[in-house]
Formats: sequence, C-alpha cells, structure tokens
Amino acid sequence: MKVTLFMAVSLNGFIARKDGEEDFLSHDNWNSFSELVNSHKNFVIGRKTYEAVKKWGEEYSFDDFTNAKKIVVSKNKDYKLDKGYILASSPEEAINIFKEQGAEKALITGGSNLNTAFAKKGLINEIILNIEPKIIGEGIPLFFTDKFDLELELKDIKELGKGLLQVRYEVG
Ligand SMILES: NC(=O)c1ccc[n+]([C@@H]2O[C@H](COP(=O)([O-])OP(=O)(O)OC[C@H]3O[C@@H](n4cnc5c(N)ncnc54)[C@H](OP(=O)(O)O)[C@@H]3O)[C@@H](O)[C@H]2O)c1
Repeated sequence: MKVTLFMAVSLNGFIARKDGEEDFLSHDNWNSFSELVNSHKNFVIGRKTYEAVKKWGEEYSFDDFTNAKKIVVSKNKDYKLDKGYILASSPEEAINIFKEQGAEKALITGGSNLNTAFAKKGLINEIILNIEPKIIGEGIPLFFTDKFDLELELKDIKELGKGLLQVRYEVG
C-alpha cells in the first residue's frame, strides 16, 4: 500500500489561516486535488477537516467525490458522519479499511494533526505539496509540532499555473 500525503500550503508552510479559513488557496489547487482523488479513488481526513470543509458550500465539497472512498479519522467511535463517509478511529485502521477493500494506494489530506499522526507512525511513503505563491502571517502548520523527522528525496517539481508549484518527494 503506497500512502501519499497531499497538502496545499502557503510558501511559508501554512495549510489554513488561524481561524481555519483557506481563502488563499486557488481554484487550480482544487482542480489538482480533484485529479489526485480521482486517481486514488480514496482519501483520509481528520475530523476537524471534515467539519471545516462541510461549511464551504457547494463549490468546494468533498461530497462531489462520489467514486472515492472517504474516511474520517476520529477517536470518538460514536461520531456521526454524513452518508458516503466511513469512520476510522486511528491512522492504522484507516489504512486497513482501504487494504481490505483491495486498494493499492491511499491519499491522506490533512489537517495538521492527522498529518502528524501518520508521520509519527511512519505511514507516509510520498508527499505531494501544492505551494501557493502566497505568504500568510499566521496559520495552521503543515504538521502539528511534535517529535519526529522525515527524510525526503525530491522526485518532481512542476508549475501548475499562475505560480502554483507542485513538489513531490519520496519519504526515505
Ligand atoms: N491546505 C490544505 O491542503 C488542507 C487540507 C486539509 C485540512 N486543511 C485545514 O486544516 C485545518 C484542520 O487541521 P487540524 O490539525 O486542526 O485538524 P485535523 O487534523 O483535520 O483533525 C484533527 C482531529 O482528527 C482526529 N485525529 C487526529 N489524529 C488522530 C489519531 N491518531 N487517532 C484518532 N483520531 C485522530 C481527532 O478527532 P477527534 O477530536 O474527533 O478525536 C482530531 O481532533 C482546517 O482548517 C482545514 O481547513 C487544509
């Protein structure tokens, strides 16, 4: 199972503003995310990301990915999700659900706390970042601060449009 972490960041490594807003991310970025979801046919998000994106309205909705298996991770085993979402109580459980369904790859896509949980457990094989040509002064970081390191090998860099850079690394 190849596990890819995909995230969109400001140039200074924030994934959202302090209040959770992602207004600095572009439509090109959303299109790029959509392509990755369509090729993986699955993704995993943290409970707080699930709640944040639900508030965005119809233009940017996870509900539109009807062909993708969508897992939300929460420690609360009674957490109620909308139809079309699957609950997992840990990163390992999320990966096992996909494995049992026969998936060969999985897409992890935030937020900060979930990224750190996967990183600390050594579950990430690849990282793809879309770097927006923006710096925001305050925000939520790509990884929540904790004790871990990842060794990375750069595999690809491309410009997706209007200064949006995509970098891809393998995790050693
Ligand atoms: N720029 C981007 O690409 C991008 C992508 C995704 C999200 N975001 C932004 O990131 C922000 C949310 O990030 P966040 O760090 O606050 O929250 P998060 O990672 O989305 O969710 C955190 C929650 O996930 C669950 N969780 C995390 N690790 C777990 C573990 N090891 N076992 C079981 N459950 C676990 C817990 O839910 P319970 O509390 O229910 O137990 C935890 O409170 C939002 O503003 C969102 O918009 C940005």
